[in-house]
Amino acid sequence: MKTSPLIAPSMLSADFLRLDEEIDMVNNSQADWFHLDIMDGVFVPNISFGLPVVKAISSMAVKPLDVHLMIVQPERYITAFRDAGADILSVHFEASTHLHRTLQAIRQAGMKAGIVLNPHSPVHVLNDIIPEADMVLLMSVNPGFGGQQFITQTLIKIAELKELALARNPDLLIEVDGGINRDNAAQLCRAGADVLVAGNAVFKAADPEEEIRLLKNILA
Ligand code: DX5
Ligand code: ZN
Repeated sequence: MKTSPLIAPSMLSADFLRLDEEIDMVNNSQADWFHLDIMDGVFVPNISFGLPVVKAISSMAVKPLDVHLMIVQPERYITAFRDAGADILSVHFEASTHLHRTLQAIRQAGMKAGIVLNPHSPVHVLNDIIPEADMVLLMSVNPGFGGQQFITQTLIKIAELKELALARNPDLLIEVDGGINRDNAAQLCRAGADVLVAGNAVFKAADPEEEIRLLKNILA
């Protein structure tokens, strides 16, 4: 039996009018991390939430905050997100001109550093930078919105990334984000995914805590 994936519910799909209850649900569930999607309306065609909301979630969360920055020039906000409570900070390969410096700055600020690849970016662009990262997040939808359909090409990318990681950074975590649910989760884990993000699958479920349990134990 393979080890269970880490589960990171995406708070973008939570009910913001009852955010405290939603945080409690994740705290009490088998979820491992909180996944927080930060969108600036420039890098992606949507605006989500920013630092005050991250800080509020951090004050209640008893699990690490996995912050996914979908913003241009993410290097400008590294210490701000650290101060707001981020434990893992991921920036898009497509948004950071000097990614090596950005990843070093994230680690120097005391966080784990992640690189995110859009669906159109091939895995091989990571060849020279992968030793500097703690995690690579493969987008399995075009970033900007929850509730989109999983892009199946991602399965091939996970396998390619796993191979690259084994050669260049065996401790690397592989996270996948977008359109993940109980029907594709096991396949993603078998391909090499370590962390599954799930927004709609969790928060639109009749019983979100049970859905998290199901995803967590998908290989059992
Ligand atoms: C998309 C975000 C995702 C999204 C996932 O831009 O990065 O984290 O919230 O939501 P689902 O699981 O509904 O596709
Ligand atoms: Zn995300």
